[in-house]
Amino acid sequence: MLPCQRHLFDIPEDVAWLNCAYLAPLMRSVCAAGEWGIERKRHPWRITPKDFFTESEQLRALFARLINADPDHIAITPSASYGAAIAARNLPLEAGQRVLVLDEQFPSNVYAWKASCQAAGAELITLRPTQDGDWTEAVLAALDERAAVAALPQCRWTDGALLDLERISAACRQAGTALVLDLTQSLGVLPFDVTRVRADFVVTACYKWLLGPYALGFVYAAPEHQRGLPLEFNWIARKGSEDFSRLVRYRDEYQPGARRFDMGERANFHLLPMAVAALDQILEWGVDRIQVTLAARTRSVAERAAEFGLDCLAEDRRAAHFLGLGFPQGIPDRLSETLAERKVFVSVRGDSLRVTPHLYNTDEDVERLFAALEALM
Ligand SMILES: Cc1ncc(COP(=O)(O)O)c(C=O)c1O
Repeated sequence: MLPCQRHLFDIPEDVAWLNCAYLAPLMRSVCAAGEWGIERKRHPWRITPKDFFTESEQLRALFARLINADPDHIAITPSASYGAAIAARNLPLEAGQRVLVLDEQFPSNVYAWKASCQAAGAELITLRPTQDGDWTEAVLAALDERAAVAALPQCRWTDGALLDLERISAACRQAGTALVLDLTQSLGVLPFDVTRVRADFVVTACYKWLLGPYALGFVYAAPEHQRGLPLEFNWIARKGSEDFSRLVRYRDEYQPGARRFDMGERANFHLLPMAVAALDQILEWGVDRIQVTLAARTRSVAERAAEFGLDCLAEDRRAAHFLGLGFPQGIPDRLSETLAERKVFVSVRGDSLRVTPHLYNTDEDVERLFAALEALM
């Protein structure tokens, strides 16, 4: 278990931010790294051509460590939806084929497939859980010869329902189904190892559980997709781009591995140092320890919630960092706004009041949540 890390953040004592699944607050170290980055751009004579590469490679390597991948397999992107668009461009569909998504899945890993399906005459299939609420079984049951792609998360963004990705990836390989994972709501808190979960593409945004800045994300592309087509044709992704004096000797070859999928201007002078600082800290804490610590926090919130007659998924069915609290009479109108007036911040998503703590939360934050709920009910 990790002790409370609130001192690393800048969160006033009277703010209960139980909303990391919406936006993570930035650590002081991450802000300092961003300020240093802006400072350099203020005085560009401090930025050398080498800097366009070294920081990108440093960040690529850190993210690769997080998912036990080779840095060559990682691309730097602006968002999760950009990553899903790379995957959709490189996994062509045929008429009659199917793409599997979950009911109420976050749109970043849905719209790209909707467009691909429309263009190809393929079908987007929305899966519901089995009668006893099992999403893994629902996916496994849909993996037949028509299923070309399964586009999935590790946990649902509304209620934290967990999927067993090891079982799903093994079944996808047997069925010949490509697996495209959006791990925006789980990387950084749930252990994930790409050598155990053999995905074709993994995409994520950086601004939630990776505790990084907005407008940055990552893609893991499996080796067999690393000769694919990028979304844009930026110069830095081409072979030899290190030599700025020869950029007009246009090259057809790309930088090695998944670097061809990097976004234009990926060497962002303030976002990259911020993300490096955030990932450094996450790796220092250790994802396993973050998970165990947040599991204890959500467990205690779930027990208190039960006393209020609020239900949530059983611990073995949900992600450790996620609680979707259900109200027996439905969610009261303006619930999250009313709680926010008391400086208690949570989200309403689907039918759930989503409570998503991180290491900065304290017992007092939880007390404030229940005091506010008590006043309302
Ligand atoms: C599951 C999931 N994926 C992705 C995102 C963000 O997507 P993007 O980076 O495309 O804006 C969110 C934001 O809530 C999300 O919950």
